[in-house]
Amino acid sequence: MNSVKVGLLGFGTVGQGIATILTRNADEITRRTGRRVDVTTAAVRNVAKAEAAASAAGVDITITDDAMSVVNNPDVDIVCEVMGGEQPALDLCLTALAHGKHVITANKALVAMHGNTLFAAAQKYKVMFGFEPAVAGGIPVIKAVREGLAANRIESLAGIINGTGNFILTAMTDQGRDFDDVLDEAQALGYAEADPSFDVDGIDAAHKLTILASIAFGMPLKFDELMIEGIRDIKQEDVVHANELGYAVKHLGIARRRDTDTGPAVELRVHPTLIPQRQLLANVHGVMNAVLVEGDAVGQTLYYGPGAGSEPTGSAAVADITDMVRAMGSDPSHQVPPLAFQADALQDLPVLKPDDIECGYYLRITAEDKPGVMADIAGIFGRHNISLEAILQKEPDAINAADETTATLLPIVLLSHKVREGEMRAAIAEVEALPCVPSPVTLLRVETL
Ligand code: HSE
Repeated sequence: MNSVKVGLLGFGTVGQGIATILTRNADEITRRTGRRVDVTTAAVRNVAKAEAAASAAGVDITITDDAMSVVNNPDVDIVCEVMGGEQPALDLCLTALAHGKHVITANKALVAMHGNTLFAAAQKYKVMFGFEPAVAGGIPVIKAVREGLAANRIESLAGIINGTGNFILTAMTDQGRDFDDVLDEAQALGYAEADPSFDVDGIDAAHKLTILASIAFGMPLKFDELMIEGIRDIKQEDVVHANELGYAVKHLGIARRRDTDTGPAVELRVHPTLIPQRQLLANVHGVMNAVLVEGDAVGQTLYYGPGAGSEPTGSAAVADITDMVRAMGSDPSHQVPPLAFQADALQDLPVLKPDDIECGYYLRITAEDKPGVMADIAGIFGRHNISLEAILQKEPDAINAADETTATLLPIVLLSHKVREGEMRAAIAEVEALPCVPSPVTLLRVETL
């Protein structure tokens, strides 16, 4: 039987990982699939640079600067899009699908924003569309949720799904460093996205959560409806206070089913989160990723591993390739649907607005150090029916306390029990209106998982 031919769109970190794995592990992959799989061509912008990289990796492929020649090539069976960005990646993938090629992408933005279109095209042309490398790098979490947990009604998932953000928070926690200082190091080490704001403002994690939520709940991709906050505003003092209270600060993507008065809905949110230090997720450090999934039958399961990198992400892409090779020629109705559920059985679950999410809260209030302040603040939370779990009144800092011309300010740290965010925001607005509270309140969300 002829070998299966793979064409790459892009030959950067991930493209080189795919080619290296398929070359080095060719015999092992043939034993798994029953057919040989060869990478034959790659389209890039800089041909000379890619040729040098291919030669250094011992990979024998044809490099071109004409991406259309790859997606139109009748000898290419599977196209792997590892170029990133929205366009021309979208048009190239759609063209490849229309030419009857199976497509795999590592491009989470593409899937999160155009997945509904791409899956429909794959269905129309009776080909397969894979995206395991788009979420959590080398962790086979798509396959785990889509197939391994197929028996379950998935109730929730929570994941550390941006390695750069986790690297920064880990260094802030372990080394007492500030955000800007660690971001520079992450960029120098090559972890950050081309546009690092995607990492630190939560966009990258939101792309990945959009995809995970859709395969967990069987709903269309709804990237535009996510609540998204990054880690840019996390202050060293909040990391320290959280640790004192027994919590770690992690940037999480959280998807949770909710039964509301108007019917079933979901919370989809990406933000810095305090989680108990004893939680396994709190002990995921550096650039590693982990996803905690809760199903009604299995309970909690946890998936951990490298969330980025050449061969880890290549590993996920090659896993999709092996699935496709095994399934080639089979009846499409017997293949695993991209979003885990039959396309005509997806549920258009509403995404709850930020005011309607429910969780615990960490607040840091800077207030004047004088009698009655604590009572005023506690009274506001009481009137809003918000129950407080812990209160930490810190010493005023030395410089502040030495300045006799202004009132001494001191930080008050509060942890609340679970409450609707709209109620919490209303209480905070009242606290910020108190004359003894001169600056905005810092808010972080708390999850016990
Ligand atoms: N910039 C991403 C991260 C790479 O830091 O996780 C993998 O998607």
